[in-house]
Amino acid sequence: MKYRIAVVLFIFSLTAHPQTPNSPDFLVKPYLQLGKKASPHSIQLLWHAPVSNDSWLAEYKNNDETEWRRSEGQVYSKVAVGSVTPFYVYSANFSSLKAGITFQYRVSRNGKVVFNSEAKSLKSAVQSYRIAISGDMGAGTGTSKKIAYEIFKAKPDMVAIAGDIVYNRGLVSEYNTKFWPVYNKDDADTLGAPLMRSIPFVAAVGNHDALTREIDRFPDALAYYHFWEQPLNGPNGKEGSAFVPALFGSDANKKAFYDGAGDKYPRMSNFSFDYGNAHWTVIDSNPYVDWNDSTLRDWLAKDLATAANTTWRFVLYHHPCFNSSRAHYEQQQMRLITPILEKGKVDLVFAGHVHNYQRTYPLTFVPDNLGSQLVAGTSNTRIGKTVNGRWTLDKSFNGKRNTKPNGIIYITTGAGGQGLYNPEQTKDKDSWQKFTTVFESRVHSYTVMDVNGNTLVLRQLDINGKEVDRVKITK
Ligand SMILES: [Fe+2]
Repeated sequence: MKYRIAVVLFIFSLTAHPQTPNSPDFLVKPYLQLGKKASPHSIQLLWHAPVSNDSWLAEYKNNDETEWRRSEGQVYSKVAVGSVTPFYVYSANFSSLKAGITFQYRVSRNGKVVFNSEAKSLKSAVQSYRIAISGDMGAGTGTSKKIAYEIFKAKPDMVAIAGDIVYNRGLVSEYNTKFWPVYNKDDADTLGAPLMRSIPFVAAVGNHDALTREIDRFPDALAYYHFWEQPLNGPNGKEGSAFVPALFGSDANKKAFYDGAGDKYPRMSNFSFDYGNAHWTVIDSNPYVDWNDSTLRDWLAKDLATAANTTWRFVLYHHPCFNSSRAHYEQQQMRLITPILEKGKVDLVFAGHVHNYQRTYPLTFVPDNLGSQLVAGTSNTRIGKTVNGRWTLDKSFNGKRNTKPNGIIYITTGAGGQGLYNPEQTKDKDSWQKFTTVFESRVHSYTVMDVNGNTLVLRQLDINGKEVDRVKITK
């Protein structure tokens, strides 16, 4: 009998949320998201709590206000997947925020305030801002946690994750051990920081977030669609279509997933939003995506065309296509959309997947026989295939005296916590592809981007706070 109790307790400890003893109200404390329609006057607050009839209220006030404002449109969804104890994900909107300020908010349960914090609203087009960017973060490693602390100390206004949000399979249970306790920690130290409660996070899905679709074996997979709330303005593909793979499993397990994810699945895979004077396009770069699909290509082209009047255009996806690392070198499928990005006048592309830091020269790229490369193979076999073509490098740009690049600069910033790839290549320039100008894989690092009107300064800071790269771009 004792053995049985021990087993039950062990299983419970594996699947239950890590409630902090001094805060029994939440399973996951409040965290900020862009919401389904991002705006400088709006932000979405989410939190997780046990299934109950409790009455919850989220309130906020702008920095010059004394009265609390009620949130709007508060809803909850029930996540009841696999062996995870069912719980509610609450979501409330703060819809009358002033742009680019620090505001106060609080959350009450059954009439009693149980959480309060300050937070930053999204910037308007005339405000300057700082964004931290990194991929491959939620590994639960000591370096992941330390990078979270370093990002916190850098005081960004927003964090962008370039995929592989949570290892190893993007499961609900993995978020509970490797993500929330690190990026939404109560206090800041080398084990994590209270980032998500105070600034918005945005993320692209990586392979570790989206490839697990055997829903019977892993019923709590695809947690991205349960926990994130990002704009729903991308193409609305159906399961089994060119950019949405099928789920495999029983109808009951599929239904449990659909019920938790709601309208965010699968639409939240690709989306865009404006932040400050920039337009961001966030793309699912996984190998199941067939870029021959006109729905997806047309959406991307149109999205960038409508952003023609914003000062900057940034793209965030997971698989880097101009990568000098021996690791994942052959995964070049995202080269196929480079012509669309160039036509859309994209300034910077941020990727992860390769666990180091790389910066390319500004470049333009013409794939050989684009049509045939697009249809070669099926979408599931394209990974591992190189995409050949001709690139033109702008070597006159140096980010110091010449700050006007001719072409897109591709940043690989995947050194956010997982084991580093190919550190031996850092000093071995002969092993770099000709498009690479900076390669640092001896140390974990993350990107800090400061944008002030027509001037952008991008820095790569290592886990000890040391600058490993700096480049200035002007319009
Ligand atoms: Fe990856």
